[in-house]
Order: sequence, then structure tokens, then C-alpha cells
Amino acid sequence: MGRKNALGSKVDQEVILMIDIRLAKPSDASELVKINDLFCGEGSNTADKIEESLINNDSEIVCVASEGSNLVGYCCGDISRSMSCPNKCGTVTHLYVLEGYRRQGIGRKLIESVENEFRKRGLIHLHISTGAENIAAQTLYHSCGYEDTSEFVMDKDLPKEG
Ligand SMILES: CC(C)(COP(=O)(O)OP(=O)(O)OC[C@H]1O[C@@H](n2cnc3c(N)ncnc32)[C@H](O)[C@@H]1OP(=O)(O)O)[C@@H](O)C(=O)NCCC(=O)NCCS
Repeated sequence: MGRKNALGSKVDQEVILMIDIRLAKPSDASELVKINDLFCGEGSNTADKIEESLINNDSEIVCVASEGSNLVGYCCGDISRSMSCPNKCGTVTHLYVLEGYRRQGIGRKLIESVENEFRKRGLIHLHISTGAENIAAQTLYHSCGYEDTSEFVMDKDLPKEG
């Protein structure tokens, strides 16, 4: 029997579990919170809020990589629209693959899956950003066709009123 890698390609003589790339479901929330904790920091969100977001947030696309009932990666994409520009813009906001599952094409498949969902919703331009030192992510994004821009990204914490 031919062995398959995580995404099901034949690689040699034995079979390992297949990874399924699909849209997240509200019932994924308890698994998603675990990998979200690893990426965004423990306690950065709760399973209840993730479930609520998956049910109600129409402007976000969330794709997951699952191995059986366990999630091993996820990717989020956000759709924004402005009165000054008729085209909706898609931003890939989060991408994470569990350490033991990296370099098997899962990150790329997750991005492609989010891109397909953007395409179905009529988007024609996508945006992605990552850390200046994050060579893994930069290499992946370049290989997916994203190009460097001259944009300078800035952040600000908004102080509470009063
Ligand atoms: C970045 C990340 C999502 C990549 O996931 P992955 O599943 O390992 O990526 P893939 O296997 O699809 O890699 C596809 C290509 O990207 C490039 N790449 C991925 N990881 C790399 C690394 N550590 N160093 C150099 N290039 C890398 C390679 O070109 C790779 O193709 P190859 O394996 O045939 O050489 C993963 O390393 C991760 O979760 N990192 C921590 C979270 C993070 O940094 N997220 C992005 C922040 S916005």
C-alpha cells in the first residue's frame, strides 16, 4: 500500500492519517481555542466567544486543518469594505500550524482554502502581513504569490475614554 503524506500524496510504503482542510464549524470551537492559545497566547479568547464568532461573523472566513477530531492548524481571513473603494479587500489575519505538522504543505493548503472562499465572495485583492523576522511565513507567502509592498504597518492601543 502506498504511504501518503499529511495531505494524502503518495510518498512511500505505509499509510498515515489524512489531513482534511475545510471551513471551520461552530462545533470546532473547543479545539480551535487550544491552537488559538498557542498562537495568540493562553486565554486570548474563549471557546464560547469563538463559537459565537463562527456563527455570527459573516465578514470572517476561518479554515481549519483536521486530523480526525483534532485540529492541527487554522487560517483566518477578514473581508473589509469601504465607501471609498467599491472592491472588498481580503486580509489573511491568522495562520498557525502545530509544530509537529509543519513542512508538510498544510500552511499552504490553509491559505489556498481561505483564498478560494475569498474568490467565491468576489474578492480580487488580498493582503497579508507578518513579522519582519518571520522567515517561515515570508517564504510561504512569497511562494503563494504575495509580493512585498512599500507599506509601513503601524499599531496603536486606543486609550479608554474618561
Ligand atoms: C508559517 C507556518 C504557518 C507555515 O506552515 P507550514 O505548514 O509549515 O507551511 P508549508 O508546509 O505549507 O510550507 C510551504 C512552504 O513555505 C516555506 N516554509 C515553511 N516553513 C518554512 C521555514 N521554517 N523556513 C523556510 N521556509 C519555510 C517553504 O518554501 C515551504 O515549502 P517546502 O516545505 O516545500 O520547502 C508555520 O511555520 C507556523 O504555524 N508558524 C507559527 C505561526 C506563524 O508564524 N504564523 C504566520 C504569522 S502571520
